[in-house]
Formats: sequence, C-alpha cells, structure tokens
Amino acid sequence: MTTDKLDKSLQVELASLAAEGRAKAPERVITEYIPPKKDFGPRYRLEGSSKEYIRLNSNSYLSLSAHPALIKAADKATRQFGVGPGAVRFIDGTFCYHAALEKRIAEFVGKPCAKIFNSAYTANCGLALSISSAKTHWIGDQLNHNSIIRAMRISNIPSGNKGFFKHNDMDDLKRCLDAVDPDIERVVVIFDGIFSMRGDFAPIDEILSVCKAYEDKFKDGVITVVDDSHGIGAYGATGRGTSEYTGERPDVIVGTFGKAFGVNGGFIAASETVIEAVRQKADTYIYTNPLSVADCAAALAAIDICDSDQGLDLLDHLGSVTTAFRNGLKRMALESIEGPHPVVPLMVRDTDKTHRLVNFLYENGLLVVGLTFPVVPKGDETIRFQINACHTHADIDYVLGVIKSFNH
Ligand SMILES: Cc1ncc(COP(=O)(O)O)c(C=O)c1O
Repeated sequence: MTTDKLDKSLQVELASLAAEGRAKAPERVITEYIPPKKDFGPRYRLEGSSKEYIRLNSNSYLSLSAHPALIKAADKATRQFGVGPGAVRFIDGTFCYHAALEKRIAEFVGKPCAKIFNSAYTANCGLALSISSAKTHWIGDQLNHNSIIRAMRISNIPSGNKGFFKHNDMDDLKRCLDAVDPDIERVVVIFDGIFSMRGDFAPIDEILSVCKAYEDKFKDGVITVVDDSHGIGAYGATGRGTSEYTGERPDVIVGTFGKAFGVNGGFIAASETVIEAVRQKADTYIYTNPLSVADCAAALAAIDICDSDQGLDLLDHLGSVTTAFRNGLKRMALESIEGPHPVVPLMVRDTDKTHRLVNFLYENGLLVVGLTFPVVPKGDETIRFQINACHTHADIDYVLGVIKSFNH
C-alpha cells in the first residue's frame, strides 16, 4: 500500500490553493537567537541567510521567553519530574505544577477556577464541547479567530444555532440575539478581546450591557466569553487584558500562555461548575497529554513577573515603543488603526504593494506578516507589525527609517 493515489489528489488540491493565493509560504527556520546588545534588542538568524533579523511578527509581547527566571523555573521543574507527563490528566498525569498554574491564572484574571490546555486553540474547542447542548445557540464576532470558528463548528449544536455579528457592531449583535429561536435554552456570545490582525479591541462593557437585556429570555441565560489571547499580559494598566481596559469581565475568559507570557499552552477561567464541566466533557482536555511541568513552571514564573514592578516596567516600555512606532507611521502619513495595543497594522490597501513592501522589509532585516487578497478582501491589504518589550527605541527608529526609505 502507498499513498500515491491520495498524493495525486492532494497535489491538485494544493495547486488550487496556490492558484487562489491562499497557500502559506514555505516556513523560514530560525537557527540562532542573538541576545540584546547595547541599545539594540535581540536579533535572529535564519537558515540560508547570513543576515540578522528583527522579529516584528512575534506574539511574545513582554519578551519573556528568554527571561532567566522562566528558564530557571523550567529547568528546576524538569529536574524534579522529567520532561513529559507520561499520561493524561485523569490518569495520574496531573503534577503539582499543573494545579499551581490553574490556581495562579484564575487568580490573575479574577475568576474562581481555571483549567489549562495545550493551547488556546484547544481551550476554545474544549469549551464549546463542554457548554453546548442541543438547545444552545452560539453568536460570535465576524472577525473572531479561527479557533473560535472551529470551536463553534465542533460544538455539536444544530447547524442553524449560530449567528455572526458585524465586527464590534452592537446593533448587529442585538439583531443576532433577537433572531434566536425562543425554544433555545442557552446563548453563548463569544468574541476576541484583541483582534489579532487589527490590534483593535472588543467593547466588552457594551457587549455585556447588550447581553444583559436578553439574560431573562433564555432558561440558562446569555453566557459571555472573551478569548483574550492577545490581551492578557499585554493590555490594561496591570496586564489583566481587555477586561481591565474596558472595565468589565465576561463570564468566561479564554487565554494563552503562548503570547505575552512567552511560554506555551492555553486556559479557560470561569466558575467552579463551568470548569468542572470542562474537566468532565472537554475531549481536547481529557484525551491528550497535558503541558509539560517545564511549561507550567515557566508560565508561573511569567505570571509572577507580570504581576510585579518588573512587569509594570515592561508594560510601560512596551507602551512607549508602541507609541513611538505609531507616531512614526503618522508622521509619514501612513494609515493604521488607532489604539494602544502593540499589534500595529499598516493599511497598504494594495496586494502588489504589500508584497513589495514585505520583501523590502525582509531585505532590510525585518520580519513582518503581510495579508493580501484573497486572505483579506481587496482594499484591506495590510502589513502587521507586532511591537515587543525587547524592542528598543533605536530598533524602532531603524524600522521607521526602513519604512521611510521604501518608494511608497
Ligand atoms: C484570539 C486567539 N485565540 C487563540 C489563538 C491560538 O493560541 P494558541 O497558540 O495558544 O493556540 C490565537 C493565536 O493567534 C488567537 O489570536
């Protein structure tokens, strides 16, 4: 037996993805991390190139992944328990580091309880499997992350029990809530905290006030869920995320340890009962090995840093370099989406120009993400810059200088 016949069919499918412009570019391989020097942040080397690059496409907003405290914590936990858990959580794969991380992250985001997952992606899928019933209706923002869209698909709800509201449009959210069948017992309204391609945020205070008006209409009420993967650690006065920024906390908070915290893994934080339902019903939690103790120990160290004066200094510096970058784009009269988040989109609004600018940046040692048609609608072509706390003002000046020297 071979996969020759399957390979042939897949080659046709892959060729059509490429022809539609939807195929992902080959993956670049990072071969070296060059620590910060004097006024400059870290640089990276890539396979096949002798250049040094600045990463402006990393979600590691607080730049904690190479922090000595995280490495030391991961090392200590590994020496205590080894590198792998040996089994899933309910078959004695639960170590004290898992339990400690669950307690710590719940406390950090202000919820009674939490469960950790291998990623925020699997957390969203696990949540959908745990809280959905045949009489559940899900409503999401149109620009929600792929993991939420996938979670809604696998939630076992009837296919009609779904609605999408226009991005951040409260009237359209009301329209979706009005359209829910009166027989429905449970409505879940889910949205990204920070929209990762745009850097804008969900108006959680407004969303919660809209949902509150419908609470009594359904037996189990309207459950609000934020996936604040890009917000927690990086947004709000003390890094508590979009809830802190908007002053309101939804019923359920999903997040990741793989962005501002610089590690790996995801979580759901909610009431004790919701979390027990997750433990009992979320296949993406139950039937898969958990995070390593090293990941958990490093994530614990990252939260401790975030929760300290050092964390506040990092947030302060991140805000300062982000503002410097945003102001630099403004001075060049380049279009962006306003806001304080370190995701800074440059609206290029032309596919060919986006490709040329991404290549120009790469030739000048800058790694960014370009979004072009058909991945985004024509006219919405964008280059996403992600500012991290490891970037210095000298780095930002260099990046702005490169952008300025491009023939716009
Ligand atoms: C809103 C949102 N949720 C989930 C994820 C996935 O996070 P993880 O890498 O932890 O699965 C992302 C990552 O880009 C995201 O933006």
